[in-house]
Amino acid sequence: MISDDHPAIIEFVKISKVYPPDILALVDISFKINKGEMVFLTGPSGAGKTTMIKLICNIDKPTKGFIDIAGNDLSKIKPAAMQALRQKIGVAYQDFRLLPRLTVFQNIAMALEVKFMDGKTIRSRIHEVLNVLNMTNKIYKRTDKLSRGEQQRVAIARAAAARPILLLADEPTGNLDSQAGTDVMALFSQLNEEGTTVVIATHDKSIYRDSHCRIFHLDGGELDITGQEPEDREQGTET
Ligand SMILES: Nc1ncnc2c1ncn2[C@@H]1O[C@H](COP(=O)(O)OP(=O)(O)OP(=O)(O)O)[C@@H](O)[C@H]1O
Ligand SMILES: [Mg+2]
Repeated sequence: MISDDHPAIIEFVKISKVYPPDILALVDISFKINKGEMVFLTGPSGAGKTTMIKLICNIDKPTKGFIDIAGNDLSKIKPAAMQALRQKIGVAYQDFRLLPRLTVFQNIAMALEVKFMDGKTIRSRIHEVLNVLNMTNKIYKRTDKLSRGEQQRVAIARAAAARPILLLADEPTGNLDSQAGTDVMALFSQLNEEGTTVVIATHDKSIYRDSHCRIFHLDGGELDITGQEPEDREQGTET
C-alpha cells in the first residue's frame, strides 16, 4: 500500500551492496528523498549509480541495511504489494530494454495497458510525451530501426507516459545531442511540477549545473550530498 503519511518517498538506512566475490558497490549509505523532489545522482563510471537505482526499484537486494519506498519496507514487502508499487514507478534503464520488433507506440502502450488504462487515454498520453520529446514522427517505427538516441527517448517516454509517482532515469541523456537533452529535461521538469519525484543518474554536468536540486555524488560506493532540500530552500534556511 502506498502510504501518504511519509514525507520521504525513498529512504535508505545504512545500505551496503557487495557483488560477489568482494566488489563494494555501495558502502553504508543513508539518505532520504522527499515526495516531489528532483535529485541528480552523479559520480564516475563504476561509482554505484545504477546499483542504487536497482535497489530503489527492488530489482536487486542490498547486502545490508533497510530501504523504504513510499512507506513500504522492501525487505518485507509481499509480491502483490510490490507489483502495485512497481506500477507507480517509472524506470528509464541505462540499456533501454525496449522490445525491438515492436513499434514506438507498441512499446509505450504495453507499459500503459498493464495499468488498465483505456485505449483513448493511452493514445493521448503517448502523443503527449512524444510531442515533448519531438518524436511523434517516429511513432509507428520499429524500435530496432531507430538510432540509439531515438531509442533512448522511447525508453524515457515509456517511463514517463504513465505519470508515475517516482521516475528513475539512468543516464537519460547519454546518447543525445543538446537539443534532445533539453527536451528530455523539459519532460522531467513537467512531471516534477505535477508532483512526480524524479531521480536522474548522470555524468552530464550540463543538465544539473544550473539546477537548484540536490546532488547525490557517489564515488567508490560512498555518498556525498550537496544542496538544500526543497523545504529548506523555500524557508531560506542555510545548511
Ligand atoms: N551484476 C554485477 N556483478 C558484479 N559487479 C557488478 C555488477 N553490477 C555492477 N557491478 C560493479 O559494481 C560497481 C558499481 O557499478 P554500477 O553499475 O552501479 O556503476 P555506475 O555508477 O552505474 O557506472 P556507469 O556510470 O558506468 O553506469 C562497479 O564496480 C561494477 O563493476
Ligand atoms: Mg550505470
